[in-house]
Amino acid sequence: MSQIFDEVIDRTKTNSVKWNSREELFGSATALPMWVADMDFRNSAQIRLALHKLIDEEILGYASPSNALLESIICWQKERHQMTINKKNLLFSPGVVGALAVCVQALTSPYEGVLIHDPVYTPFSSVVQSNNRRVYRTPLVIENGQYRMDYDHIEKSFKENSIKMFILSNPHNPGGRIWSKEELILLTDLCVQHEVILISDEIHSDLVYTDSSIYSPVSLKEEYKKWVVTLHSASKTFNLAGAKLAFYIVYNDKLKEKIETVQHETEQNSISTFGMVATEAAFSKSKEWHKELMEYLEENRNLVADFFDKEFPEVFYMKPESTYLFWFDASSLHIESDKLTETFIQKGDIALNAGAAYGESSKQFMRLNFACPRSVLEEGLQRIKTVFNSVKH
Ligand SMILES: Cc1ncc(COP(=O)(O)O)c(C=O)c1O
Repeated sequence: MSQIFDEVIDRTKTNSVKWNSREELFGSATALPMWVADMDFRNSAQIRLALHKLIDEEILGYASPSNALLESIICWQKERHQMTINKKNLLFSPGVVGALAVCVQALTSPYEGVLIHDPVYTPFSSVVQSNNRRVYRTPLVIENGQYRMDYDHIEKSFKENSIKMFILSNPHNPGGRIWSKEELILLTDLCVQHEVILISDEIHSDLVYTDSSIYSPVSLKEEYKKWVVTLHSASKTFNLAGAKLAFYIVYNDKLKEKIETVQHETEQNSISTFGMVATEAAFSKSKEWHKELMEYLEENRNLVADFFDKEFPEVFYMKPESTYLFWFDASSLHIESDKLTETFIQKGDIALNAGAAYGESSKQFMRLNFACPRSVLEEGLQRIKTVFNSVKH
């Protein structure tokens, strides 16, 4: 099966953002793209079959969520995340970031405070800002090589900045951290106590490596359901970002009503037929593919970790417990943070994400996407080696 993931697919002649924006974003049309979070793997055979069937047998008119889609989400979330969902708890969106924007508009008012981690996935701050709310950040502290939340700081910010919403990347992008049950309880208890709505973005929550258990706050205490909105999509795990389908899980009817109002106001209440069919085929028919994917990704992750251990042991990195993103500290290069991306392009022709985009505290970090065939990853690591060697010597 791993041969499927070994196949190198030429994406340069498609409209892939990852491959076709290289010149515009990185100034090099030949850079090896290991940046934005999509995978260079073909979709599962079951997804492709379902989409072929759709084209052959149906008409692409306006659609509403099918029963099969709803059931596939309900079963997947029950099996993997111990969540009991009713059909009425589900709402749809073209994307998780779009859903985040709707939540910000629906559940907070202009100029109110929204708290996010530093560092965290870049659109968390931009979505809040572009909707005229105030962004506050709470630092993630590195302890024993991993990010930990600073609960005193969070509580202080809740009080001082009258925070109305906390947006959590669960698990954490870019650090790949899976928050433990205890950590989620501490955070969500604080949210409940201070009447802060918790948005739990769980888009990476099915990209989990062996020996790690992942939790959703709503599965931990019944009372959390009043305060938490969960956002999810099959798009990261099954490589469907272009199919444009994500979903909200909302238990609180009042929050759900507010979200639906903004969905109507912004005409975001329709659903993509392609996304619906692909998501259903992913959740209900692609379990074997998913299992094999995780085995392949785990080997890729270990390869990157072994590379740094062997070649550059001075480099600090966070071995991800989830996601296909490798977060490493490039401080040993002694390059100013705003020159890091450029240096990786100039010396190695490799496109990585700069840590500065995720927060002040991670300016010296770089993020590498290892969801690609092994031969491509090996080429990428050679290029990184060239960068480190040419800057050091
Ligand atoms: C934490 C997180 N949320 C959301 C997204 C994007 O979601 P969508 O493409 O559905 O808007 C990403 C993409 O990498 C992500 O890492």
